Amino acid sequence: MALDIVIMAAGKGTRMKSALPKVLHRLAGRSLLQHVLQTAAGLGAQRIVTITGHGAEQVEAAVHAPHLHFVRQMPQLGTGHAVQQATPLLHDEGTTLILNGDVPLIEATTARALVEACDGARLALLTVDLADPSGYGRILRGDPAGRGATEGGRVHGIREHQDASAAERAIREVYTGAMAAPTAQLKRWLAALRNDNRQGEYYLTDVVAMAVAEGVPVVTAQPASETEVLGVNSPVQLAELERRFQRRQAEALMEAGVRLADPARFDLRGTLRCGADVEIDVNCIFEGEVELGDGVHIGANCVIRDAVIAAGALIHPYTHIDGEGAGVRIGAGARVGPFARLRPGAVLGDDVHIGNFVEVKNSTLAHGAKANHLAYLGDATVGERVNFGAGSITANYDGANKHRTVIGADVHVGSNCVLVAPVTLGRGATIGAGSTISKDAPAGQLTVARGRQVTLAGWQRAVKKKAG
Ligand code: UD1
Ligand code: CA
Repeated sequence: MALDIVIMAAGKGTRMKSALPKVLHRLAGRSLLQHVLQTAAGLGAQRIVTITGHGAEQVEAAVHAPHLHFVRQMPQLGTGHAVQQATPLLHDEGTTLILNGDVPLIEATTARALVEACDGARLALLTVDLADPSGYGRILRGDPAGRGATEGGRVHGIREHQDASAAERAIREVYTGAMAAPTAQLKRWLAALRNDNRQGEYYLTDVVAMAVAEGVPVVTAQPASETEVLGVNSPVQLAELERRFQRRQAEALMEAGVRLADPARFDLRGTLRCGADVEIDVNCIFEGEVELGDGVHIGANCVIRDAVIAAGALIHPYTHIDGEGAGVRIGAGARVGPFARLRPGAVLGDDVHIGNFVEVKNSTLAHGAKANHLAYLGDATVGERVNFGAGSITANYDGANKHRTVIGADVHVGSNCVLVAPVTLGRGATIGAGSTISKDAPAGQLTVARGRQVTLAGWQRAVKKKAG
């Protein structure tokens, strides 16, 4: 039977107090809506329809993909009105799963359980018991004609907080915003919604009473954890959810054997694959796709994006590795930092050493090469065992184009040299400190390009003249 998914993302998100539409705010590096879409993508749906409204163009541009459908809701007259906009795209002979764009952490297993509970014929609601249910729609159970609010027994309705009596407000079981319904019935119910309530909105939640009136069974399912159904309405809630999500990721890594100095000071905004005996000190941020081989140690305060770091490499504190695009590769046993910066296309061989205040971009360093202090290597090919002296740089940019510097194996570049690219230093060459090298240097010889040191005999330093 066909499954269609509707994701509601048209609301304004006033309490975020931001120009950015709420569903585009980021959690662990991805927008709230991307989290929901990613979960939805794993459910085998025939169609995924996202309802946009506030900031529609921006939202659609941010998440667009060939298999996604967008429907605009203008103006936004409530959650029932939102789903109504999608009905022409929904398959009658199937089930519709409705998710909230601002509830990012719902698990696929929970969504699947909800669809199974619906089983093509029932109205299934995802509910949760909250210590503080205020603001949420309350689940009404028991005899609808009975005395006031009742808990336990069959569901007969959902009462929005604003419309609830004092007794109903005491109910702690709430609607999370996710439901699964037989599509043909859902369409009929949506068409019959009215907005005679405190907020003057078309409430999706009113379909529950309609289902009951038609004798369609209403069932409930619960998430494995409360975190899955928490919504984001404010910066405080966003930060709270971020920490919960990070905690969950940190625990999964620790269960796999990764040693985190402090799971509360760890951030992963993407995916991190780790070998055995990996240690990560406090305040590190991993972004994009990062791979750490066996025994890799990451010092405190490192930011690492899109990088593959091989076994036994040590990344000392305050190192920034940004491989966005071309990636960064670090060989086995390499040492990097503290205070190093590796940019896209930096490829370090085994046992390479990159020290403090050294920047490497789009350059390959072969086995055992070293640049230990205050250096820049851009667009360079560096041979085995090269020693690149303190303060030396490649001048790779002539103001219009980038050029390559090729440094043969066993070259020794003294301190404070400028290698003006394109230029090649032959195997085993030595470059004297302070040289500006703009022509190729031959293999195995000393090349120096600087003013000769002279000492002037009899020279006297000027003396200040006495006044008057
Ligand atoms: C809704 C439920 C409430 C539930 C709560 C869970 C209704 C009437 N109430 O309340 O029972 O406890 O979610 O979080 O459904 N949206 C649109 N178009 C609109 C209005 C909202 O797309 O016209 C979207 C919002 O962007 C958001 C979602 O629907 O993603 C929920 O809207 P919101 O206004 O936050 O609903 P609540 O009042 O919190
Ligand atoms: Ca509302």
